[in-house]
Amino acid sequence: MKSIKLLFILFFLSASFYAQTPTDYLPAEFHKERRNMLRSKMSKNTVVVVFANPIRNRANDVDYVFHQDPNFYYLTGFREPNAVLVLFSDNQTDDSGVVYNEIIYVPKKDSRAELWNGKRLGVEGAKKELGFTMAKTAEEFTEQPIDFTKFNKVYIKKFEDDYRNSLNKFGETYDLVNSFKRNSDYKIATLISEPKKKVYELIKSTPIENAANVAQVLGKVITYYPDLGEDELIQGYRNTTDASKIKDIKEKTSLKLNVKHNINTTFLSSKMAEMREIKTPVELKLLTKAIRISAVGQIEVMKAMKPHMSETEIQGIHEFVYKKYGAEYEGYPSIVGAGNNGCILHYIENNKTKVGHDLVLMDLGAEYRGYTADVTRTIPANGKFNTEQKAIYELVLKAQNEAIKVCKEGTMFWSPTQIAQKIINQGLADLGIISSVTEKHSYFPHGATHHIGLDVHDPGTYGELKENMVITVEPGIYIPDGSKCDKKWWGIAVRIEDDILITKGEPENLSGEAPRTVEGIEKMMEKKSVLDEFILPNLDE
Ligand code: GLY
Ligand code: MN
Ligand code: MN
Repeated sequence: MKSIKLLFILFFLSASFYAQTPTDYLPAEFHKERRNMLRSKMSKNTVVVVFANPIRNRANDVDYVFHQDPNFYYLTGFREPNAVLVLFSDNQTDDSGVVYNEIIYVPKKDSRAELWNGKRLGVEGAKKELGFTMAKTAEEFTEQPIDFTKFNKVYIKKFEDDYRNSLNKFGETYDLVNSFKRNSDYKIATLISEPKKKVYELIKSTPIENAANVAQVLGKVITYYPDLGEDELIQGYRNTTDASKIKDIKEKTSLKLNVKHNINTTFLSSKMAEMREIKTPVELKLLTKAIRISAVGQIEVMKAMKPHMSETEIQGIHEFVYKKYGAEYEGYPSIVGAGNNGCILHYIENNKTKVGHDLVLMDLGAEYRGYTADVTRTIPANGKFNTEQKAIYELVLKAQNEAIKVCKEGTMFWSPTQIAQKIINQGLADLGIISSVTEKHSYFPHGATHHIGLDVHDPGTYGELKENMVITVEPGIYIPDGSKCDKKWWGIAVRIEDDILITKGEPENLSGEAPRTVEGIEKMMEKKSVLDEFILPNLDE
């Protein structure tokens, strides 16, 4: 018995050794448990339909690197495009008596396609590795369509309709979504476009005596949505002052608005937000790893930074560290902005050829097994903060420290932002950058917190903070060239961003190993870097 066990272990070890692919993804049980939790929130005779992300074209025959839709991944663990998850509230029985309460539709195995684009899991893989008892090919979703009209509610995310039709292929997102639209109430639900719905609602709810005012407003609306001008009811409404005609139009808009259908586009997002905002232990493990990798990236850059470096090169050092740890992506386009470039909140060109003696704002996050960090450090390229840089930095740090202190269970979500705003306003006034604490300004134009997880801006309910949420705390001050203050402050941009685990007790700073204080950063920047010796040939001579 012992030797059989040993053989089994050896076989397992050698198999995973030869496969040599990561084994620490979320386990199938996690996704199954999440599906069960979502199902428990659904009312009787309802169904959730979630589509995988489509492939997006970059240029000609080159596509963007595929990234799974986070909701789809959360519920399935499937990392390929052109797939659908159908989750039923109640057991269903097929023609052969098989009982099931969920189906995953996945691309079928295809040796030719796999030769070019990599292995597919296929139907059997989806059963074996993802733990689905009912898995079918994507084609089956279109060829043996489910009649979605028979359910009390069909929960979907609103379609953006931004996928290509490659014509010569079947089972692609375009076909899957169209099949769903054909076999559901979707057409009825979207008979009236969103802008038209808003206008109809306005007409319906406005008392007849105020119709002239609304008709005037509609004139402006039509300049943005010319199609609305051709709508018979809207046209009629604008062209009459006759009370009985207006009454008639109001009744007709009301009838059109009341068309019955079973499509619901809010339930899924709101339930996913409720579930995803609280991280389970397996999620926390991966998210913490992503965060620590990003913190190490910041540390290595602090050691390696030199004034002659370009923003691009600095970005490359962070991302090299991520890859060295096996992180598959960056969670969002990396931001490396020297001096005035740091004032652009989502600056991603990163193409300044020399960072010089400016502050360099570096907002980057590794994505590890789907989970993304979001960490910002702002450091002086030459290793020492000058007087003005230090004054602004210390102010942002104070705001961040005070905001972090309140990040505990029970605090309202926006409270850290309000605390940071108050401190920054007071500090800017004390430094003479604004004339008084009440002066309106745009030196801190964003909120200080958001959830992180499978999305860098992860969904949440934005009420009270709860145990096992992970949020950023990221105050900043940005003083672009030409601002209405003393020139000595121009081009200074500071953001400090850490990823905080909410507990019942004290907040836990998961990115805290990257120094944040002026002294801590300057000390780290004095250290040697292995990259000091990494000198490549000059190709420009
Ligand atoms: N990196 C984007 C953000 O900080 O929200
Ligand atoms: Mn952030
Ligand atoms: Mn960030």
